[in-house]
Amino acid sequence: MPAPLLQISYSLGTIENAVRQFWQVATGYNTLAFSGQMGAGKTTFIHALCDYLGVADAISSPTFALINEYHFDENGKDRMIYHMDWYRLRDAEEAVNAGMEDCITQKNNLSLIEWPEKAEELLRSPYLWISIEATTDTDRTMMVWAK
Ligand SMILES: Nc1ncnc2c1ncn2[C@@H]1O[C@H](COP(=O)(O)OP(=O)(O)OP(=O)(O)O)[C@@H](O)[C@H]1O
Ligand SMILES: [Mg+2]
Repeated sequence: MPAPLLQISYSLGTIENAVRQFWQVATGYNTLAFSGQMGAGKTTFIHALCDYLGVADAISSPTFALINEYHFDENGKDRMIYHMDWYRLRDAEEAVNAGMEDCITQKNNLSLIEWPEKAEELLRSPYLWISIEATTDTDRTMMVWAK
């Protein structure tokens, strides 16, 4: 595997700084795929990212809705975020039927996907593959690759 674009470790206390470093790498990508075990911290990091971007909507876990929609202001323009959780999908066909492909192929929005391995073939280059691993109860290591 090629070297990651970014490798950082963070706790809840330093997550804001991790988000800032992450966004320097992630700006310009429309699809961000967050991989990691249950409880690794995918939703937590996405919330911190949305806070950093100034999302005004209430941010919640898309576990039940599968897709949550938020908005933020990017240089005076409204930009939409689709926060998706693919955990309960069986395969790419189910993901397409649930509208996931429509979200990621729409131009200019930002798609944030938890459990992307459930329908990895739907992802279209260029995108970022982000792995989050719990190294201790409080520390997480994130690695970011361009695909
Ligand atoms: N450095 C850290 N970063 C993120 N979460 C942390 C960290 N340290 C502790 N935690 C805790 O770990 C848990 C992460 O849960 P979270 O819902 O973000 O995981 P997830 O990867 O989205 O899981 P799921 O696959 O079930 O959606 C939270 O309870 C959070 O408080
Ligand atoms: Mg989650």
